[in-house]
Amino acid sequence: MHALTRRLEIAISLAIEAGALAMRMRPAPGSANAILKGPQDWVTEADGAVERFLSERLAHAFPEDGFQGEEGGVSRTGSLRWVVDPIDGTANYARGASRFCVSVACMEDATPLIGVIVAPALGETILAVKDQGARLNGTPIRAAATTDPAHAIVEVGWSRRRPNQDYLAVCEALLTMGASLRHGGSGALGLADVAIGRIDAYAELHINLWDVAAALMILHEAGAAVSPFLDGNGATQGNPILACAPGLAPALASLPNIPPALTP
Ligand code: IPD
Repeated sequence: MHALTRRLEIAISLAIEAGALAMRMRPAPGSANAILKGPQDWVTEADGAVERFLSERLAHAFPEDGFQGEEGGVSRTGSLRWVVDPIDGTANYARGASRFCVSVACMEDATPLIGVIVAPALGETILAVKDQGARLNGTPIRAAATTDPAHAIVEVGWSRRRPNQDYLAVCEALLTMGASLRHGGSGALGLADVAIGRIDAYAELHINLWDVAAALMILHEAGAAVSPFLDGNGATQGNPILACAPGLAPALASLPNIPPALTP
């Protein structure tokens, strides 16, 4: 079996198992059942447990591959590497909400090869393999055909890693263009929604590789326009990101502090 096909099959089955583990550990609604790593930056017991599960099982299946996770950083190196966010949307998850996912990517240097996002409480698996297209629960997906920002829904991801005034400037620019805004609390799922065509763009002033690695593959294969996230120190320090319907890229090229999205 081709090495990438085997990696895809194992990535899907492990991400589904990881999602089931997260579901078993999901806190009940109420005040956040989590601790703060930083301002508004939550971590739950499940983040560590899911990451350990994926790290151990991937090491067993592919001992030659590297591994990078949100919680443990880079624990192994290899010419291919797995980049994992055990729970993206932790703030939602910690409140017993459903908008969270497990994100598993396989990369070769700066090139994504496989992206698998499993949202267990939403019943969705979104995945892509380089040059083989992107799918939602088995059905091919494509970014929207929207060209007019006044018809667009745009998610603007937020974290305390950048000043609120910069966040407000991005929102202001989008609102002035006539876009409708949202912030859903999971960068990976927001980006996946662009690839599915449910929303027209996702913008964030700073996001980390583990949040976006699987989505980068999915967006590329779904024909979305994406800013060059991996340029500079993107892989190690994070970067701004803009992903959008290809026809919206020219209109969104002037967003403050966010590089333009490049059409595929
Ligand atoms: C966060 C979420 C959030 C995004 C932040 C991320 P986490 O990841 O994706 O939507 O705006 O930039 O840090 O903490 O839930 O894995």
